[in-house]
Amino acid sequence: MKRIIKVQKMLLEKINSYEGLGEDREYPLDFERIHMASGTGIGHMLAIIRGTDPELTSLACALHDFGRIVTGLQKDHANSAYQPLKEFLTEIGGFNDEEIEIIALAAKNHSSKDSVGTPLEEIVKDADVFDCWQYGIPMTRPEQLKRLEALIQELKPTV
Ligand SMILES: [Fe+2]
Repeated sequence: MKRIIKVQKMLLEKINSYEGLGEDREYPLDFERIHMASGTGIGHMLAIIRGTDPELTSLACALHDFGRIVTGLQKDHANSAYQPLKEFLTEIGGFNDEEIEIIALAAKNHSSKDSVGTPLEEIVKDADVFDCWQYGIPMTRPEQLKRLEALIQELKPTV
């Protein structure tokens, strides 16, 4: 079984653990589940198009909002992912230190939509805005819209 299945299963269990706690969450747990799964698929396709490692890229996409999942907060959720995500991946097992660092850094950097990171990080950011857009999540920051427009242009076949 591929690691992406195991990681999504473990992340679903993590999300489920917050069910019924009565906390105020900025994003519903159902959105976290849906966004995890569909963002992962978008990331996998973009990895093939752009030539990054599809598994590592889709793993980073699956986990990019880990900070919001564990804190319930949108504010600073990218930064707050870094350490807990490293611990989560270490607990799951089957990842080397370099892979853990790449995935945790992609989560940490994914909110910087106006700067350019590694090709894998760029896919995480693009898959994030594309996935939010398809569900009608409001995107007010100009850099998010710019990124979305560029991605849509990239995906359109050239004649
Ligand atoms: Fe996201």
